[in-house]
Amino acid sequence: MVHPPPISALQPWLAPLAGYSNLPFRLLCREHGCAVAVTEMVSAKGLLLGSSGTADLLATCPEDHPLVVQLFGAEPEVLGKATARLRQQGFLWFDLNAGCAVPKVTKTGAGAALPWTQSSSLSCFSAASAPAGSCITRQATYSDARP
Ligand SMILES: Cc1cc2nc3c(=O)[nH]c(=O)nc-3n(C[C@H](O)[C@H](O)[C@H](O)COP(=O)(O)O)c2cc1C
Repeated sequence: MVHPPPISALQPWLAPLAGYSNLPFRLLCREHGCAVAVTEMVSAKGLLLGSSGTADLLATCPEDHPLVVQLFGAEPEVLGKATARLRQQGFLWFDLNAGCAVPKVTKTGAGAALPWTQSSSLSCFSAASAPAGSCITRQATYSDARP
């Protein structure tokens, strides 16, 4: 069984920050007291297609631990396969993006658009959780992300 990463007021997390929370930034934050870090958001579809940008987003090292991978996507099957692949690669913890309001993401039904479709949101969440045992999410519902 995979134990969850520490969650307490004394063990702060580095939130996912697209464009910022890359490996050097995460290591710097860990030096300054970050207990758990989350990657930049990673496209589940891009991961399955083997996009080179996705490999960069997943760059890590032993000191970069515990590390949560944030995925985004709106297709349960794709999310399940992506999580399974990442588990095989040794990643242990996952976060499903349900808050990104960037149109490029919401127009695919992912990010902040995901919670607007409750059935799809639940199937995405359970598909991403299945290979991992669990998956966390923080959600924001922006009315302009409504499909
Ligand atoms: C530049 C930037 C990039 C962000 N990227 C992501 C992201 O990729 N995924 C995500 O879930 N949240 C993302 N967020 C939201 C942050 O993780 C965080 O929830 C938000 O900034 C609120 O933080 P606060 O509670 O400390 O004010 C981003 C925020 C900023 C400012």
